[in-house]
Amino acid sequence: MSEETLSNLLKEERRFEPPAEIAADANLKAEAYDRAKADREGFWAEQAERLDWAQKWDRVLDWDDPPFAKWFVGGKLNAAYNCVDRHVEAGRGDKVALHWVGEPEGDSRDITYAQLQDEVSQAANALTELGVATGDRVAIYLPMIPEAVVTMLACARIGAPHTVVFGGFSSEALASRLVDCQAKVIVTSDGGYRRGSAAALKPAVDEAREKAAAHGHTVDKVLVVRRTGQDVAWDEAVDVWWHDVVDAASTEHTPEAFDAEHPLYVMYTSGTTGKPKGILHTTGGYLVGTSYTHWAVFDLKPDTDVYWCSADIGWVTGHSYMVYGPLANGATQVMYEGTPDSPERGRWWKIIQDYKVTIFYTAPTAIRSFMKQGREIPDRFDMSSLRILGSVGEPINPEAYVWYRHVIGGDRTPVVDTWWQTETGAIMISPLPGVTAGKPGSAMTAIPGVSAEVVDNDGKAVPNGSGGYLVLTEPWPSMLRTIWGDDERFKDTYWSRFREHGFYFAGDGAKKDEDGDIWVLGRVDDVMNVSGHRLSTTEIESALVSHPKVAEAAVVGAKDEDTGQAVCAFVILREEAGDGGEDIVSELRTHVRKEIGPIATPRQIMIVPELPKTRSGKIMRRLLKDVAEHREVGDVTTLADSSVMDLISKGLSSPT
Ligand code: WT7
Repeated sequence: MSEETLSNLLKEERRFEPPAEIAADANLKAEAYDRAKADREGFWAEQAERLDWAQKWDRVLDWDDPPFAKWFVGGKLNAAYNCVDRHVEAGRGDKVALHWVGEPEGDSRDITYAQLQDEVSQAANALTELGVATGDRVAIYLPMIPEAVVTMLACARIGAPHTVVFGGFSSEALASRLVDCQAKVIVTSDGGYRRGSAAALKPAVDEAREKAAAHGHTVDKVLVVRRTGQDVAWDEAVDVWWHDVVDAASTEHTPEAFDAEHPLYVMYTSGTTGKPKGILHTTGGYLVGTSYTHWAVFDLKPDTDVYWCSADIGWVTGHSYMVYGPLANGATQVMYEGTPDSPERGRWWKIIQDYKVTIFYTAPTAIRSFMKQGREIPDRFDMSSLRILGSVGEPINPEAYVWYRHVIGGDRTPVVDTWWQTETGAIMISPLPGVTAGKPGSAMTAIPGVSAEVVDNDGKAVPNGSGGYLVLTEPWPSMLRTIWGDDERFKDTYWSRFREHGFYFAGDGAKKDEDGDIWVLGRVDDVMNVSGHRLSTTEIESALVSHPKVAEAAVVGAKDEDTGQAVCAFVILREEAGDGGEDIVSELRTHVRKEIGPIATPRQIMIVPELPKTRSGKIMRRLLKDVAEHREVGDVTTLADSSVMDLISKGLSSPT
């Protein structure tokens, strides 16, 4: 972010005090900050009491071998039992857990906690039948249908870590994840509904299975949900219909209690290299972190609230704030299958009206696209049920924040701008709706129990009014435990930058304002944030270079009004490819889509004769970013050949 934008941001002076009714009855009050600071572990132990433990822990935190943490040592619990069965046992079996809304209108289903218990038990029995044992990995590649939640919980129930792969990812991306975590079984569907039509999923699974096999990994079984009824290729030796094996399975299943540190899931996310990182979360600490934050940050009142998080289960937000947090808290929530504009652009607001949603959690990129369409659309609906709004995934610009609060929230609703990451597992920095006077654009302060700081190059806290690196200074229960199969990369990526201080380095830059409140500015590494989704520059560069006509590629994230950042690629073609032909740009776009998925598709591809490099051969992406953002090109003195930038700027009449 440029200095100019930054100082504009910090001139933002609007404040929104918490509404009196929410403040009076808030789950977490201001005193919690001091209480947590005085005895952090005691505070977390108190939060752990919200779960049901088959065996209580002997030690809250084992930090003897940092950065490898163990939380609630000696404790035993079952995550699915905590998310489902215990609510039924407490007499809340008839309460709706999921108001599921399919994309085709009228295609919806309410699922109570008692029904969820039956379905999760059936799926757990079926997975066991298919040979899945405790510790085996199960890949989930599903649209937003109830079976996705059921499968995740069934895996948790039998102690088989799941790895959910976003349905928008390509077969290539799926294959690399299957191989990396050696998944034994894949759960998928024939397809799902998006933008009014049935989109296939199963063919990508068939391809991914072949690609994994080429890397020496065999997937034993593929469990297929029939969602759209479209034709699918069928391999009798491997493919099994969900309705054949799950529906026929017993609804009786006794959950086993697992160690607090038993792996719960692996979620792949982009890092600074081409290879995605498998972020490992374990059971006890993760469930404590997600249930506590969902209760505190959204001020959840389980008996009266209807909660809706619009994220896909393929991302960590869907894991923490659609599955584990809300269900552990016994909440009633909405789950929606499709896109916001199907069959028309008011679909989300209609869902809020129909189900009287009280808490709504979405991403700035969505808010900005609604802003663009104009307030006439949301104004047609009655959204007076809303009492709290949340934002996640990227910095929310003050205009979007104020529009969200005003147009969607009718000026009644606090907006909680929640900062966290796949790695942190749960919200770390956020206002509290009943406590904090919110500033549009600021995530404010670390929540009680978490300690964050903005530091300089030497790890020293910066004074108020200055910027630096965002770090977490103390371990927290829902922290990642490692990168799957790569402890060294785990240490290197997050803990080496400020090793002497023992800080976790998040990869974000941030600024503290005059009050000490935190404004997250975005990534300081080679990671982009497109519509709240993390993409690695290197991963897209590798995809481009794998095209036969490409010699070299450099990718940068350029500022974009709609998506926050957009992918901009600079490509040098191989000599034998000539000018690449008329359709070279669309050919390369399609190629990236196929290799990674539609979200990685470059907004712009520029064919250039050279790339700016330092003498040691490192591409200077900073300069390319200047070009992509139409700025005067910055300092070129460290370039091996300083005329390269002129060449690039001159050549920019090429097709985009
Ligand atoms: C990165 C993490 C957290 C779930 C969704 C994304 C950015 C996230 C905010 C926010 C400013 C934010 C950061 C972070 N980010 N929330 N409220 N304000 N930036 O998870 O894919 O792991 O990405 O998203 O850059 O490092 P993720």
